[in-house]
Amino acid sequence: SSTSYKISVAGTGYVGLVAGVCFAEVGHRITCVDIDEQKINILKQGISPIYEAGLEELMRKNYAAGKLNYTTDYIQAYKDADAIFIGVGTPEQHDGSANLSYIAAVARQIAETIEKNCLVVVKSTVPVGTNDKVEQFIHDFLVNDVKVEVASNPEFLAQGTAVRDTLEAARIIIGTESKWAEEMLMKIYEPFNIPIVSVSRRSAEMIKYASNDFLALKISYMNDIANLCELVGADIHEVARGMSFDERIGGKFLNAGIGYGGSCFPKDTKALDYLARQNGYELRTVKAAIAVNNDQRTILFKKANQRLITFNGLKVAVLGLTFKPGTDDLREAPSLENVPLLLEQGAEVYAYDPAGSDNFRKLYQEGDYYIKYAENPEEALDGASVCFIFTEWSEVKAVKPEVYKRLMRTPLVYDGRNIYEIEEMKAAGVEYYSIGRAAVGGNMAGKYSNPHITNHRLYIA
Ligand code: UDX
Repeated sequence: SSTSYKISVAGTGYVGLVAGVCFAEVGHRITCVDIDEQKINILKQGISPIYEAGLEELMRKNYAAGKLNYTTDYIQAYKDADAIFIGVGTPEQHDGSANLSYIAAVARQIAETIEKNCLVVVKSTVPVGTNDKVEQFIHDFLVNDVKVEVASNPEFLAQGTAVRDTLEAARIIIGTESKWAEEMLMKIYEPFNIPIVSVSRRSAEMIKYASNDFLALKISYMNDIANLCELVGADIHEVARGMSFDERIGGKFLNAGIGYGGSCFPKDTKALDYLARQNGYELRTVKAAIAVNNDQRTILFKKANQRLITFNGLKVAVLGLTFKPGTDDLREAPSLENVPLLLEQGAEVYAYDPAGSDNFRKLYQEGDYYIKYAENPEEALDGASVCFIFTEWSEVKAVKPEVYKRLMRTPLVYDGRNIYEIEEMKAAGVEYYSIGRAAVGGNMAGKYSNPHITNHRLYIA
């Protein structure tokens, strides 16, 4: 059987908590550390502070089995740990660079407390070269005469499927600079039975960015092609399907829409662009992915704005607020850009989201703004003049085309996630606009439109 290590995990956000719980699940003895006392108390009660299917079950099971603990007392947690994983946040700063102050704070705590040889593993996404600096920083502040090394072990989990993504990951990347660190990380991950790719520390750091930015690029590429499809009368669904059979392209992440959001793609594209600029290089492909995504997020708003004289006084249904289904997270969600635009123009927004309304309410309170939070899609749609679909929740996909026709004042739907077949919306008598496909219904029937191009067309005419 494999070795059980005493591991501490710094940070109980997405990365740290899921890593800690999954390490406990495979047999290690885990202490999750966070400075937030309230959060630690909640965790001890078996309640997850993040919305993640299947997580609480594993939390409770491993906590009851004594394999998983939570504490704010980092001294106790770090002093005799075999390994300490750092999973704290690296938020984006104004210039696109990553804020490393949380990492530095943990590194310093580690340096001042460890009493035995310890492997420090950075899971947080950090700019290439950071782990060299973290190791130096720990050595600078080290109090006791112990061996300490820093390894890179980037995290690839996606929100909503975090537990499965960790326990059944496609690969585990470890970046180390010594045999000791490499072998120890290999042993820690042995029980997972997942292919391990062992590389240098800087390569590991780069693999994380290169992977995320490639996926962002893939999405922006499809959005770019989708916009062109609308102009030339092709259908992005058909195009994507045709492309997907080529294994070199693959069938995943080909969905056009109103752009990528979330805590990773927007941040990691900007961070790599920043890193390149710092090094005197222009990363043109990633820059293009960022530019396409920025335009894509308001593409439907602009289209609707052209179609209507005004939003003023109109009831507007917004279906979906989160950046993707299966999460309550609003970070970089298209709703955050579109709802303020609608409110500014005097729209009366009725928003529905099965998980994200509470978080949205913290930003846009009923009463302060003309916004109401609906309990179900029907309530949001009732009497609405326009509907925007921003998240492909199953609760939203379950809304039948006839429902728009029956409940809305005018059945005018802008679908940012292409959740309906064009033909079914047409048959139901809905005026329907989506991404990279023909518009149907209304006086735009059969015409293709793209707000970026309209002026250009007029100009040519
Ligand atoms: C992502 C990566 O998938 C994960 O590996 C990494 O560790 C963190 O970032 P996450 O942000 O949770 O995970 O969600 P993901 O499912 O990848 O979606 C990101 C965004 O891309 C969403 O806004 C989603 O709507 C969008 N997307 C995804 C598309 O627009 N089209 C697609 O085909 C796929």
